[in-house]
Amino acid sequence: MHAPTILVTGSTRGIGLAIADALSSAGATVIRHGSRNGAGVIGADLAAPGAPDALWQQALELAGGRIDVLVNNAGQFEASPLEVSDIVWLDNWEDTLRINLTAAAQLSRFAVRHWLASDGADDAVRGRIVHIASRAGYRGDSPDHWHYAAAKGGMIALHKTIARGYAASGILSFAIAPGFTDTAMAGDYLASRGGAALLADIPLGRVATPQEIAAIARFCALDAPPSMTGTVIDANGASYVR
Ligand SMILES: NC(=O)c1ccc[n+]([C@@H]2O[C@H](COP(=O)([O-])OP(=O)(O)OC[C@H]3O[C@@H](n4cnc5c(N)ncnc54)[C@H](OP(=O)(O)O)[C@@H]3O)[C@@H](O)[C@H]2O)c1
Repeated sequence: MHAPTILVTGSTRGIGLAIADALSSAGATVIRHGSRNGAGVIGADLAAPGAPDALWQQALELAGGRIDVLVNNAGQFEASPLEVSDIVWLDNWEDTLRINLTAAAQLSRFAVRHWLASDGADDAVRGRIVHIASRAGYRGDSPDHWHYAAAKGGMIALHKTIARGYAASGILSFAIAPGFTDTAMAGDYLASRGGAALLADIPLGRVATPQEIAAIARFCALDAPPSMTGTVIDANGASYVR
């Protein structure tokens, strides 16, 4: 089998960087993305409605016309307290939903159409999507993060819809629901929510590492058997057991 080509959104740092590195080490050709252009990184600010389309086209060009796996990882986690003005609260909502959910949906749509148009044996896997959702999508989040939890819950529903809709066409969808993971994003959150006290809520006694999430993503992107499509894999140190 040829080495797969994989687009990983938000792969400049944190979980996305760990996923991109793990996939590269496994022999995949990885297309990296961030909000700004950089060395070996396609820049596309997913807050802009046209950005997912531009990103997909540039990635396809770089890939020589074929992308095998999409990892929807890019996301932001910005506090939006109830006390801010109505328009600021709405702007925060729209931004987070657009970056964390709408952009992932747009990219998923481009990917599904790309794979539906591709040739392949009836039983072949044509493409895989790996969504980096969150424990928040099931459990909810803090009062400052209605938008974040709603976006992640939406992502899980989007993922299940894709898995059910296109399994028969060889298109697989997997989702990962991390709890706190030790990146800049989690650091801000832990500090803002009381730091070490929050760890008391995690039976494992620590947050996840980006490398742990990357190991799960790598499995989903490369090896997970087709019968697993539609699954959501938790990684939260047993802090939320469904
Ligand atoms: N860390 C956690 O505790 C945790 C827990 C559950 C789920 N997650 C999810 O895991 C994913 C990665 O989180 P992380 O902790 O690794 O975050 P991070 O360290 O803050 O990195 C975020 C990544 O997303 C990109 N990004 C953010 N806003 C963007 C925008 N408007 N346009 C394009 N790219 C944008 C960033 O690119 P730039 O570098 O260019 O800004 C960066 O590559 C997110 O979807 C997050 O919701 C994280």
